Amino acid sequence: MAEREHLEALLQESRLFPPPPEFAARANVNSPDIYAEAARDRLAFWARQAERLHWFRKWDQVLQWDPPFAKWFVGGKLNAAYNCLDRHLDSWRRTKAAIIWEGEPGEERVLTYQDLHREVCRFANALKALGVQRGDRVTIYLPMIPELPIAMLACARIGAVHSVVFGGFSAEALRDRIRDAQARVVITADGGWRRGGVIPLKKNTDAAVAQAPSVEKVVVVRRIGDEALVAGHWTPGRDLWWHDLVRDQPETCPAEEMDAEDPLFILYTSGSTGKPKGVLHTTGGYLTQVATTTWMVLDLKDDDIYWCTADIGWVTGHSYVVYGPLALGGTTVMYEGAPDYPDRGRFWQIVQKYRVSIFYTAPTAIRSFMKWGEEWPARYDLSSLRLLGTVGEPINPEAWIWYHRHIGRERCPIVDTWWQTETGAILISPLPGVTAAKPGSATRPLPGIEAEVVDGSGEPVRPGEGGFLVITSPWPGMLRTLWGDPDRYVNTYFGKFGPTVYFTGDGAKKDPDGYIVILGRVDDVISVAGHRVGTWEVESALVDHPAVAEAAVIGRSHEVKGQAITAFVILREGYRPGPELEQELKQHVAQKIGAIARPEEIIFTADLPKTRSGKIMRRLLRDIAEGRALGDTTTLADPAVVATLKAQYEEKEAGD
Ligand code: WTA
Repeated sequence: MAEREHLEALLQESRLFPPPPEFAARANVNSPDIYAEAARDRLAFWARQAERLHWFRKWDQVLQWDPPFAKWFVGGKLNAAYNCLDRHLDSWRRTKAAIIWEGEPGEERVLTYQDLHREVCRFANALKALGVQRGDRVTIYLPMIPELPIAMLACARIGAVHSVVFGGFSAEALRDRIRDAQARVVITADGGWRRGGVIPLKKNTDAAVAQAPSVEKVVVVRRIGDEALVAGHWTPGRDLWWHDLVRDQPETCPAEEMDAEDPLFILYTSGSTGKPKGVLHTTGGYLTQVATTTWMVLDLKDDDIYWCTADIGWVTGHSYVVYGPLALGGTTVMYEGAPDYPDRGRFWQIVQKYRVSIFYTAPTAIRSFMKWGEEWPARYDLSSLRLLGTVGEPINPEAWIWYHRHIGRERCPIVDTWWQTETGAILISPLPGVTAAKPGSATRPLPGIEAEVVDGSGEPVRPGEGGFLVITSPWPGMLRTLWGDPDRYVNTYFGKFGPTVYFTGDGAKKDPDGYIVILGRVDDVISVAGHRVGTWEVESALVDHPAVAEAAVIGRSHEVKGQAITAFVILREGYRPGPELEQELKQHVAQKIGAIARPEEIIFTADLPKTRSGKIMRRLLRDIAEGRALGDTTTLADPAVVATLKAQYEEKEAGD
């Protein structure tokens, strides 16, 4: 659907879906009073939420705001792993399933809280034996297997800072992240399953570590068990098998008393310029807010089987596969592989098998399900579901309605949750027992959160008008800085509207009911299947190829992925455009960054539209790629360039 029609649909969207009464009656939050309560005294509200956690020592001050630097629960002492494990052990939850895991080939593993505690302690002791200390960084590059949350919680237990790198990233992307964090230890696996094939994680790790001198040890989980994956990729003394390392470790390990503001993790995310940014989250505020939102938005209760389908390599997996549900003593489902392996019913088979009651996924996945057809979910018993969620990108109303009808069977509320790697936890979302949902809208800021849609000068826009989404006061789970680069933190997030107003990088509008509709990124970040890719990163990868003189990359709307990458490329003298070179360049980008950054199409061109000061006008490239009338071209150095490019693009599209 063209963006314009899509916008029209959003502008007219007026269907409201109030919470079903039987849902509201049992919901964790079922009165709108919570908004007023939070507004009356925001800090008291967050202090009450922090009481959900176990503190070794209570805080002296709720918030210390030295704009744009925040500290929450100052003076408080706690441990994230203790909160996710130990405190559940002295109740019936000791033998409750903490993690239900299913491998892509079909194996099952259930870890009770007792089991998870033991495995975390053993691995925490192993890390200590390797010399890892409080504050050290540990990079984790693992598939979706139980060892991934075990490794994260083991780091948290001893006060080491984890940096999880998504298993789909390339060796080079991994190297850059290890180097930036100066990690001493890398944890990986021989490989991981994906759609029946094996991703060679150890091989990638070797290539990365060869250029990352900070790394002393590499711990390897035997996931696949194929010797060929490690033969020739093993450095004695540096590389250690996970199972050898934990074999004789004690089954208990004290949880370090961490300061509320001690770093918990770094997670890299793409920005509009420069290398990926190391978003830093700390312990007390982050854990308070993920636990609170898991309770308030995802409505997690003791008898739920909860499944968030995100990979833990992204922030959604950190907050809502691992920390949120475990902090509340919930049961979290983890699935290793692809949704269409061995067939397109895999997700629904998992829902049926484990009787999943809360299901949280991404719009791009929902659009794939729509394309595959409603007959797939129709074959399975989905009657256990009671709540659905989405995250990561705007959900178009058609997809929302499809989800409601074919997955929720018109019984389940849907929470469209807006947030970011930087925000740590959900900030804008319906409360499923309170808010009337509207397809395509994340509705309103949660209790305790202050967000606004403003124009370029920072003034709130009128209902119906578009503007920039900003957060106007600090929140507990906010990033504290960018690892090693506080200036970039200040400039990126607080450079536009001053030090007290956090700029999200998203465009949004308020509809006539005051509901917020997110329109997507306004910076040069592309959202491919909900994953952030910076145009700059892809352009750098392209110009790294000897054939490429210059490249400009844009996101163009895509039926399933939301956005897909289109690259405009100027070749160097002596290179001829053609399908082979196009393939080679796509492959080159995938190898440099990872498959998610692979361009969908490459347009060879002799020239690019630039302003007189030499800045590429991506807006015009987007107009061309989406077949729109061209916007204002008067600032171009040479207006003829776009006309030529447009004709050429249309010719190529007609040919494909
Ligand atoms: C987008 C993912 C519309 C947005 C948790 C944001 C959304 C970026 C929504 C962050 C939503 C996330 N509706 N857009 N419900 N949720 N986004 O850091 O553009 O991977 O800035 O965090 O995803 O992506 P990130």
